[in-house]
Amino acid sequence: MTDVQPVVADTSLAPTLKPEVLDDVLLVTIDRPGASLNTLSPSLIGEFDAMLTRVNDDTLIKAAVLISGKPDSFIAGADIEQFSAITSAAEAEQTSRMGQTLLDRLEKLRVPVVAAIHGACLGGGLEVALACRYRICTDHPKTALGLPEVQLGLIPGLGGTQRLPRRVGLQAALDMILTGRSLRAKRALQMGLVDEMVHPAILAEVALDRARSLAGNTLQPARRRKRGATNLLLEDNPLGRGVVFRKARESVMEKTHGHYPAPLAALAAVQAGYSRGFEEGLREESRLFGEMAMTDVSRQLVFIFFASNALKKDPGVDRPAVQTREVHKLGVLGAGFMGAGIASIAVQQDTLVRFKDTDTARIGKGLASIHNVLQERLTRRQITRHQFDDYMSLVGGTTDYSGFESADLVIEAVFEDLALKHRVLEEIEPIIDSTAVYASNTSTIPITRIAEVARHPQRVLGMHFFSPVHRMPLLEVIVTPVTAPEATVAAVAYGKKLGKTVIVVNDGPGFYTTRTLSAYMNEAGRLLDEGASIDSIDAALVDFGFPVGPITLLDEVGIDVGGKVGAVLVDAFGGRMEPSEAMRRVVAGGRTGRKGKRGFYTYDDAGKKGRVDESVYELIGGERREVAAQEIIERCVLALLNEAALCLGDKILRSARDGDIGAVFGIGFPPFRGGPFRFIDSESVGKIVDQLEELDARFPSRFTPAPILVEMARARRSFYGAER
Ligand code: NAI
Repeated sequence: MTDVQPVVADTSLAPTLKPEVLDDVLLVTIDRPGASLNTLSPSLIGEFDAMLTRVNDDTLIKAAVLISGKPDSFIAGADIEQFSAITSAAEAEQTSRMGQTLLDRLEKLRVPVVAAIHGACLGGGLEVALACRYRICTDHPKTALGLPEVQLGLIPGLGGTQRLPRRVGLQAALDMILTGRSLRAKRALQMGLVDEMVHPAILAEVALDRARSLAGNTLQPARRRKRGATNLLLEDNPLGRGVVFRKARESVMEKTHGHYPAPLAALAAVQAGYSRGFEEGLREESRLFGEMAMTDVSRQLVFIFFASNALKKDPGVDRPAVQTREVHKLGVLGAGFMGAGIASIAVQQDTLVRFKDTDTARIGKGLASIHNVLQERLTRRQITRHQFDDYMSLVGGTTDYSGFESADLVIEAVFEDLALKHRVLEEIEPIIDSTAVYASNTSTIPITRIAEVARHPQRVLGMHFFSPVHRMPLLEVIVTPVTAPEATVAAVAYGKKLGKTVIVVNDGPGFYTTRTLSAYMNEAGRLLDEGASIDSIDAALVDFGFPVGPITLLDEVGIDVGGKVGAVLVDAFGGRMEPSEAMRRVVAGGRTGRKGKRGFYTYDDAGKKGRVDESVYELIGGERREVAAQEIIERCVLALLNEAALCLGDKILRSARDGDIGAVFGIGFPPFRGGPFRFIDSESVGKIVDQLEELDARFPSRFTPAPILVEMARARRSFYGAER
């Protein structure tokens, strides 16, 4: 074995590519210094370029292997930070062309190159692998292959739109490119995306062996995957492909309502490759990549990516290095809908969970819910049978508090009733350890109120999970003025362990998410009072970009729950939170929404939503009339934006960033708009204040602009300043 000098493009930086000659094969280890992941950057492209020249010139080298030195990533994608410094479409296009040229050289290299993939092989990483002669991946759960660019409002820019369809077929490629979904190793092998799958322990060895066999012509890589007759019929002629492209476009439009340009651009790039050939396809890919890089949508999605990464590193308190206890054992009070949801994700982190409810039947119901969540994962092969059994064995229940003495964290998820919440806290405090953290999952009641009866209020905080817990990405941790930083750090750390994006907010009625969501939903109720139809309200806000409209959401959350939340908020904030007459009447009518199969919409026995339940209009009363979609959007969205700004002004929120992430991940604010504060910035604070004032003149005291907005408009400031 001979060590050779690493090839470095930029000598001021330590190299990422570490070559080693093993007989006649060059083993290149990709290992970006000082980083936990490998990412593609212009300097790495430079290094690759120099490496290719070296391989080409050195006739003793017969083959090469690309492998990663990182535990969890081959190449996880482009370095988004460096990428966001690009300021024009031309520059982005140029960067893409540069990368394409490099991968073209890699593909046509004199010697075969094998990609040995373990961990994340995403975006540019997969594009590098696609340009190699042969791909081997490990069968490890961390191995994932995909082109997630559309999730950042971009399209693959290094030939992915051209090489992937040619490798795996048009439909399979479109499915990956248009959704950004990544594949596990086994699926990648079935599809022909990789040629072989091995255990991680033998990856390098097998890759070196295959490299030699390819060089010696004793191994011929399969040209492309085997396809069924239907696929051949559809994909191998222009007419069939026309159908595939049309259907793909329709599906994108249905999912995005036309708000996301990147999937359509990616589709156009793939299509160009089929109609005008590989070279022209690449050119079109670069051009569209440049165009996408400058869209506002991409700017917002990249912001969300950075902000959620920043939150992953945020301990939740200003004082750094607060020592805290780790959560290994969790006590859950209330085995209902939320309690079971929380337990279902906790066991998957190997946390021992103890339920407490009022009777064994309820405990049984809670256990059954956990079973269902895990069963779904098992059916989707996301966990093994062995894991399923292990997880189920971690949870047990009780009708007294036995077993709670050793809990590190207790999460209370009993009914939303202050007296009950007081009672359970009083009962449990003498039992649990003096340093255990006590969290309430209340969605509205101020934590300070709950903590009034606590002997140790410093350990009490809120952990507001969203439903369904196993799917919703946000956790809102609520701290009171007396919550100890140790308790906050423990809750935040555990929330992250559960896979949640965590924001920490200060205490107040409805905290941040419930308060802003209520302002928005309340305005929808007012529109009902004024005669707008249920479906027109929902349609307008879906058109704005919410995943479902506010009335559908109310049916989902529970109309009765909405009624209770409304009562707490009107107590705290008065006039502007005054529930609509429509809401009052529907609550009084006893409808609860989807769970009771009777709400604003009809539901079948399985709980599937149907049309508007016309009979609800009799409850609401009054005549229906046409209200313009613009009016609906303006009123509901401005109510939300203003409430978000009030939360920032009231110091409920620590930052605009938390408010944006909280709204996007917690209440479905359209991600492509970046969140309420990013949206206010893009519209300009001044314009939002003007619109609020106009509405306030029509509906006195409901839209009084938040003082922080007025001040900022006066000073011509924005929330994010000059940040992109
Ligand atoms: P649920 O009605 O499904 O469950 C409540 C459970 O608490 C029931 O199983 C009940 O038997 C149990 N319980 C009542 N008294 C008890 C006691 N003394 N000791 C132990 N358990 C007792 O209610 P859900 O929906 O799970 O809500 C629980 C909490 O979570 C509420 O504070 C609610 O506001 C909050 N929340 C609910 C969300 C939702 O979408 N349902 C979302 C976020 C928070």
